Amino acid sequence: MDFQLSEEQKMIQQAARDFAVRECLPGVIERDEQQKFPREQIEKLADLGFLGMMVKPEYGGAGLDTVSYVLAMEEISKIDASVSVCMSVNNSLVCYGLQEYGTEEQKQQYLVPLAQGKKEGGLYIGAFLLSEPEAGSDATSQQTTAEDNGDHYLLNGTKNWITNGGSASVYLVIAQTDRSKGSKGINAFIVEKSWPGVTVAAKENKMGIRGSDTHTILFSDVKVPKENRIGEDGFGFKFAMKTLAGGRIGIASQALGIAGGAFERARDYSKTRKSFGTEIMHHQAIAFKLADMALKIEAARLLCLKAAWEKDQHLNYDISSSMAKLYASETAMWTAVEAVQVHGGYGFVKEYHVERLMRDAKITQIYEGTSEVQRIVISRGILK
Ligand code: CAA
Repeated sequence: MDFQLSEEQKMIQQAARDFAVRECLPGVIERDEQQKFPREQIEKLADLGFLGMMVKPEYGGAGLDTVSYVLAMEEISKIDASVSVCMSVNNSLVCYGLQEYGTEEQKQQYLVPLAQGKKEGGLYIGAFLLSEPEAGSDATSQQTTAEDNGDHYLLNGTKNWITNGGSASVYLVIAQTDRSKGSKGINAFIVEKSWPGVTVAAKENKMGIRGSDTHTILFSDVKVPKENRIGEDGFGFKFAMKTLAGGRIGIASQALGIAGGAFERARDYSKTRKSFGTEIMHHQAIAFKLADMALKIEAARLLCLKAAWEKDQHLNYDISSSMAKLYASETAMWTAVEAVQVHGGYGFVKEYHVERLMRDAKITQIYEGTSEVQRIVISRGILK
């Protein structure tokens, strides 16, 4: 077993670290306060090839492996999880779904610009629309309908909690086409935001990842051409599940990065802050917290890398991605809370960043499947 990263993987990790410090750190507190979408940072990520990292070069991507993607996600998330969630959705949910299951025409028309993150000089990213007001964890209960009308489908319904909802140009929409068939009566469609009948509704005012752009999206008699359906009729739910398994590696890596960012700040602070006549790192109450943080982060990193490796080897990674997501997100939440505690009163104010990391950590236990959903996937997998 080889735990060494390749030279290329180390290079990607370093490039992501440099990018995060140089481009994401300046203004991160203000973007969080003002809920400002990090457009400039995302455009620069596109230039780096980080919006289509695992897409083959012939479709405009960087052709890298999932391990490199985990490393990049971790580094960027240490600094700004609002940037990394946008990156994760475009890479893992949108580009992966199209590369794996799209037709050649769909790839040429949509995947190529999405992997490059640009079209005609402007930002061009995607969003994944599964959640609904009444269908969150219970994803088969889709109320959005797509009625077969011959050469097109007529799409009606409401999607919510949509990351990149306002900034994306392309939506991958999951909808019910035949309720009598249950999960097999669900399809996935490529829908352009600019089409008549698509409305971007209110932006959510969130606790964390406040720079990211989360909206409700409404569809009213939207005509979706037949050729924009992804896969065979009835493939939509499997499409969503298969795509989400990869998405969970992305969010696990985001959680890993948030935990790492909180840990590094707590560690550095403990070396300079003095109490009772010495730097606080010399108090076991602090040193043991730091030891536990480092231990949990290492375990989370190994789970993320194992899931990524399994995906790269074309093995089944349903269970490993859920394990990585569950453990890394719990680690992020715990570590961020403890990092605030290490900082004492300073941890409670914005300049020290850990309060933001603590708020950002929470969503990693909720989106792309709550911790409870991950336990469903893991328990079903091990009991099968
Ligand atoms: N691969 C292939 N097929 C799969 C699969 C997988 N990973 N998981 C399920 N399926 C298939 C099943 O085999 C079954 O097919 P058959 O009937 O042929 O056997 C079918 O799909 C239905 O599966 P289940 O019976 O397991 O479905 P369920 O209703 O019990 O739900 C669940 C299972 C795991 C809870 C699922 O609903 C789920 O993952 N929910 C969470 C949804 C989620 O993650 N939402 C996140 C939204 S996206 C987001 O957050 C992005 C963002 O903005 C950041």
